[in-house]
Amino acid sequence: MTAPFAVVDVIRTKRDGGELTGAQIDWVIDAYTRGAVAEEQMSALLMAIFLRGMSDRELVRWTMAMINSGERMDLSGLARPTVDKHSTGGVGDKITLPLAPLVAACGAVVPQLSGRGLGHTGGTLDKLEAIPGWRATLTSEEYLRQLHEVGAVVCAAGAALAPADRKLYALRDVTGTVDSIPLIASSIMSKKIAEGASALVLDVKVGSGAFMKDVATARTLAEAMVALGTAQGMRTVALLTAMDTPLGRAVGHALEVAEALDVLAGGGPPDVVELTLALAREMLDAAGLVDVDPAKALADGRAMDTWRRMIAAQGGDPDARLPRASEVHTVTAARAGVVTSVDAYPVGIASWRLGAGRARKEDPVSATAGVVVRARPGDRVTVGAPLLELHTDDPDRIELALATLEGAVTIGDAAQTLPLIVERVG
Ligand code: URA
Repeated sequence: MTAPFAVVDVIRTKRDGGELTGAQIDWVIDAYTRGAVAEEQMSALLMAIFLRGMSDRELVRWTMAMINSGERMDLSGLARPTVDKHSTGGVGDKITLPLAPLVAACGAVVPQLSGRGLGHTGGTLDKLEAIPGWRATLTSEEYLRQLHEVGAVVCAAGAALAPADRKLYALRDVTGTVDSIPLIASSIMSKKIAEGASALVLDVKVGSGAFMKDVATARTLAEAMVALGTAQGMRTVALLTAMDTPLGRAVGHALEVAEALDVLAGGGPPDVVELTLALAREMLDAAGLVDVDPAKALADGRAMDTWRRMIAAQGGDPDARLPRASEVHTVTAARAGVVTSVDAYPVGIASWRLGAGRARKEDPVSATAGVVVRARPGDRVTVGAPLLELHTDDPDRIELALATLEGAVTIGDAAQTLPLIVERVG
């Protein structure tokens, strides 16, 4: 069959600042997903979009075409309201781990199809795989059964969910076109809308450890995603939250699971607890469950009970000991004072270099590798006090991680950090 559009015309239109028609967008996404548009042609189109942006109309149509490239899940048969959360990714962001069982324990259903880490931010599936026996892949029947019986699932998205995104994301990763607002918004929202939840809370990270380095850009991304979700009838709100400092103390898969367990047991770092509860309140509100107090469900152990059932349903042993690294190297303070900043980005890169991250999608990750932040902004330290702990099973990696961390912790008179919750959009 003759293609209805010449791909070169589509590229030229975008390159020259024109607007693509709905029919052109539908065609180019479908043809690319089927392999009828070459990788080099889509690369050129992505770069044109990166440089020229998209109109609101183009963005809605592009996102719909990505959703229509695969299946759209139907969760309308579940008796309870469905609500999901998505974070744009940050260093030490383990919030999904306590949050999903907490919100399920409060009466909503949390269907979370999740990804693996790329670059310096860790993926939720990689974290959960630190738990002996836990498996990320479920059949559709297992997925729906767990949603009925436990109320929360965190698992890998199947190949049928927005397959256009899978190809486009891999191509963006190697063509310098990841950090484009319309491409990020359509990538995230196509998967979240296809997942079928009736409400969504977005945690848009801002700061050195996030995709979005400043509040204005993070706000623009949040507004684009909230508009896309709302236009599709999904109640969508976003919180802009700080990612200038790692979240909590633990960065790295098993280390973060242990910290999430502390939160579920009623302890844990105050910022992790605060953000978990703030997101839980937004999710319950979006799900129409306004009279439920998530702080109670955390304190009385209901969230921990749901966590245990959620992990066991996916083959994990909630009582198993988490793996620990064989080598721990401590970085200490060279001077006394107040910790003024702990820069999330180098801490994320160091954790990645210690073995927690992957350079290519298919690389394995180390469950035990990572960094523990022993002194947080605002803490007073003396000379020789521990600042950071580097965990790894491969001592050869420590030197490179140390080089990355040069200057990552600053000591002075007063802490300079963003507020944890910067603002709400929606
Ligand atoms: N996460 C996604 O799923 N897509 C992006 O483009 C960026 C972050």
